[in-house]
Amino acid sequence: MNEADPMAGARPALRPRVLVEQLTEFTADDLNALCEAANAAIIDGGGFGWVNPPEIGQLASYFRGVLLVPEREFFVGRLDGVIVASAQLVLPPRNNEAQRFSATLTHSFTAPYARGHGIGRAIVRRVEDRARMLHRYVINLDVRETQEAAIRLYESMGYERWGIHPAYARVRGQNVRGFFYCKVLARRGRAPAEG
Ligand SMILES: CC(C)(COP(=O)(O)OP(=O)(O)OC[C@H]1O[C@@H](n2cnc3c(N)ncnc32)[C@H](O)[C@@H]1OP(=O)(O)O)[C@@H](O)C(=O)NCCC(=O)NCCS
Repeated sequence: MNEADPMAGARPALRPRVLVEQLTEFTADDLNALCEAANAAIIDGGGFGWVNPPEIGQLASYFRGVLLVPEREFFVGRLDGVIVASAQLVLPPRNNEAQRFSATLTHSFTAPYARGHGIGRAIVRRVEDRARMLHRYVINLDVRETQEAAIRLYESMGYERWGIHPAYARVRGQNVRGFFYCKVLARRGRAPAEG
């Protein structure tokens, strides 16, 4: 029993507050928290391409650079206000008129210490909403076959696996296959004219 507060055990445990938002600039605290989260995700084995964690300064430069790329939109997930997750929505380059209806969800991760609170799912929903706003009605993504939580998450949200890349990644000397997914988003409001 908690002697300072005898009623503590009778109250429901407070659920941490989950918030997802799009970011266009970083505060120093946000960037530090993001780098810490990314570093932990990389060490855990799910680090958007990185197998070994880079220097924190290199991660910080990478994330600052992401915000400068016109075709990339950057999303973060916060747990009680602290950044613990991120994902990117990548639009095709401007010359790619034929694929203007689509976008790619990539580099999605939640720090291992913040998983299971619904942040991963909330980020995907937020990214899909943003894609709809931009009249992007097909989302593409790919994932290593070993990322079971991500695979379950995407399949539960209606992503269809259309292909398998036999030599997608090389992790600690092992060949890892890649699963390729797409999802056609239901349209809200008026759809753009199709070519
Ligand atoms: C995939 C990932 C982003 C999910 O983040 P999260 O914040 O824990 O996600 P959620 O809490 O919203 O859980 C979403 C779903 O993931 C799946 N999931 C979560 N933890 C899981 C686990 N330990 N094992 C299997 N599936 C799991 C479940 O289907 C869960 O759905 P549910 O809540 O209906 O049970 C996170 O596990 C991660 O960062 N993995 C490593 C990086 C990665 O694989 N990124 C994707 C690359 S494209």
